[in-house]
Amino acid sequence: MNILQSAAIDVRKNAYAPYSNFKVGAAIRSSSGTVYVGCNVENVAFPEGTCAEAGAIAAMVAAGDYVITEAYVIAGSPMPVTPCGGCRQKLAEFGSNDIRITMATLNGIEHTMTLAELLPGAFTQDFFEAKT
Ligand code: THU
Repeated sequence: MNILQSAAIDVRKNAYAPYSNFKVGAAIRSSSGTVYVGCNVENVAFPEGTCAEAGAIAAMVAAGDYVITEAYVIAGSPMPVTPCGGCRQKLAEFGSNDIRITMATLNGIEHTMTLAELLPGAFTQDFFEAKT
């Protein structure tokens, strides 16, 4: 088992998901080589809940790291869990098009896609540079 996989499995156990009962764990590797983890944290005011990927990204930024090189997301779903649209955009803020995102089930099924495949046509800073 690789480090990202085991880190995501471990942090998933801490997920706070009393409303959906859908626990998610995420692990990201930064360009410094450090691995950051996050789990989903739900709230009785449902929209205030946060995804596992958002937690891992927040931990990375809080540590002063800003470049994602790889990510791994795992849940107890029948097929590999895919990051929601908002998390795809969050990943795109800190990762280049070619980074690999591995999505996994607890049963060992994995599916890997690049960020560009997950979020084609991402909104990027390039649009700012072209502003008039
Ligand atoms: N969730 C994540 O944390 N990451 C994903 O990639 C998909 C969805 C969470 C949000 C919510 O707490 C629960 O899964 C059900 O949507």
